Amino acid sequence: MTQTLTIPRPDDWHLHLRDGDMLRAVLPETARHFGRAIIMPNLVPPVVRSDEAAAYRDRILSALPKGMAFEPLMTLYLTENTDPDDVAAAHASGLVKAVKLYPAGATTNSASGVTDFDKVRPVLEKMAEIGLPLCTHGEVTDHDIDIFDREAVFIDRVLDPIRRATPGLRVVMEHITTKNAADYVASQDKDLGATITTHHLIINRNHILVGGIKPHYYCLPVAKREEHRIALRAAATSGDPRYFLGTDSAPHTDENKIAPCGCAGCFTAPNTMSLLAHVFEEDGALDKLAAFASQNGPAFYGLPISGETLTLTKQDTAVAFPENIDTPDGPVTVFDPGYDVFWKVA
Ligand code: NCD
Ligand code: ZN
Repeated sequence: MTQTLTIPRPDDWHLHLRDGDMLRAVLPETARHFGRAIIMPNLVPPVVRSDEAAAYRDRILSALPKGMAFEPLMTLYLTENTDPDDVAAAHASGLVKAVKLYPAGATTNSASGVTDFDKVRPVLEKMAEIGLPLCTHGEVTDHDIDIFDREAVFIDRVLDPIRRATPGLRVVMEHITTKNAADYVASQDKDLGATITTHHLIINRNHILVGGIKPHYYCLPVAKREEHRIALRAAATSGDPRYFLGTDSAPHTDENKIAPCGCAGCFTAPNTMSLLAHVFEEDGALDKLAAFASQNGPAFYGLPISGETLTLTKQDTAVAFPENIDTPDGPVTVFDPGYDVFWKVA
């Protein structure tokens, strides 16, 4: 018997679209299934000012193939020179839906991020006042902190102090990878939410390192121990409105991934919805997929839930996902869960 599941059209609350040829190649992979996405600003150079965000939004919309509907929700990259009035104007005009905090050096293209958090205090206070969320890449960058501990340490040393010092600031902990982060969100009020990626529900750190190094499973924050993956699965499938989907789909060419110093990022846009249906079914939580992928995110951001729908059907034979997509810069490998998946977007 065919099983089908219909949910409101999902949104992606954390997405890398890049620019130029790469943008044109990857955008349809997201727009095919998702109605909106929070667009990460870590271009080179980063999207810092509102005029840069407006220009980037225009480039995204002109890269959208005819007949596809998709709304990019723009963000600004927070630097120590960000002007609170520019942020407020970008929010008031409806252009910008969040500001992104990268600790300097934490991940791909984050060199312009924040080192001295006191310098961004006026921006954070303005954001609290106007209700504009802060999206955080939650990892410290101190060389003496082990890479597997960087998220947990960020909560104690950076995030919690910022939130205490800035009452009313709405924060999204992006791409959480630890039980510590899931528990911290659960212990706080509704001003704090978290996105969870598809791949962090599927892989733990063994997948990256056992039996040979797997560059396509390397992303930041790096996948942690199995107990953390299990905690993320529990959070994502709980229906709790504070957890929602942010794929962090982050395309890099194979040449840049399979290298002595390979880039961080998993490209999950093409098969995320199939993988999520598999994961949620495995956990007996198919009825919670709509909350995670379609309802909790808009509720946090104060936006309407999509009036359109997406239908998934479970077929008898495994879905054949493309191994990679072609771009003028070279192939980009699609995330492979390492097992067969039978849910297909209709
Ligand atoms: C992202 C990228 O490639 O831009 N990489 C990743 O591993 N997630 C940056 C980020 O979100 O950390
Ligand atoms: Zn990201």
